[in-house]
Amino acid sequence: MPLPLHPHATGCGKVILIGEHAVVHGEPALAAGLPDGLSLRASALDDPRAWTRVQIPSWQLDLTLRPDNEHPVARACLAVLGHCDGPLTGWHIEGETCLPARAGLGSSATLSVALARLALGSDADPDTLAEASLVGEELFHGTPSGIDSAVAARGGVLRFCRGEAPRELSVGKALPLVVVPSMIPRSTATQVAKVHARKARLPGVVQGILNAFREAALVAERALAQGELAILGELFDTTHHLLGALDVSTPALDALCHEAREHGALGAKLTGAGGGGSIIALCEDPEALVTHFRGRELPAFAVRIGPSAPPSTAAATH
Ligand code: MEV
Repeated sequence: MPLPLHPHATGCGKVILIGEHAVVHGEPALAAGLPDGLSLRASALDDPRAWTRVQIPSWQLDLTLRPDNEHPVARACLAVLGHCDGPLTGWHIEGETCLPARAGLGSSATLSVALARLALGSDADPDTLAEASLVGEELFHGTPSGIDSAVAARGGVLRFCRGEAPRELSVGKALPLVVVPSMIPRSTATQVAKVHARKARLPGVVQGILNAFREAALVAERALAQGELAILGELFDTTHHLLGALDVSTPALDALCHEAREHGALGAKLTGAGGGGSIIALCEDPEALVTHFRGRELPAFAVRIGPSAPPSTAAATH
């Protein structure tokens, strides 16, 4: 007998600070939760035999969780609810979020974590939630590293490395970030496959790049703890170029990063899988940069990460 759903649950969005793609290949990555991820509310339908429905208006999602629904999000939701022994009939689930979907900000992991939390309750432990989320993420992205699910379940600022327990990082000084969605769609699975293909063709070269990511994560962890924003900005720039060397950046993302630096950012990089999605810029005056990009009709927003980094203090200001 499936368990009933809890009335309310949330999941965090995420930005990867250092190490996307490298994390798929076993290197450490640093990421921060966006606490205003997704909020889900569940209510019982009059007919307990009617298929459960998921509606998230701001993502233009309206899905019936019939087992034969081929929509990739429906398949992922079905897999997560099935994994958690949640009900496939009798519920209406409505989502609210200001996070853009498919913009490199962890929307799919946010959804699967919030769904798992609806089924398992708000006191379910983060490892269990992340494991349930991964069942959905694998349907979306093939072989995800698990970083998006770990951050969506825990929030805060994390060091994540495959096969190791995620570790909460200390943040010496609040990180003022601006997130700029490029509004260019992309597929994480395609981007991840491109890096695998380049690694297969040029194993020694790509390994050198992965080693540089490992070193960058180590230096960034120290810089975060000591509040050295200038070093972090330089690491954003450097790792953006490393991502370019893996062929996951694009001229449009390079141009956005360049523009952010020209307008005062200490550093800027793509975040997430690249190929489209978003960039993040570290800057002392985030509001000015937000105003600049909004003037270009891009839905930029500011986020302050830390400084002490328990999940509830990473405050998004969008
Ligand atoms: C996607 O948010 C991050 C990637 O590193 C893929 C993954 O870790 O699964 C590109």
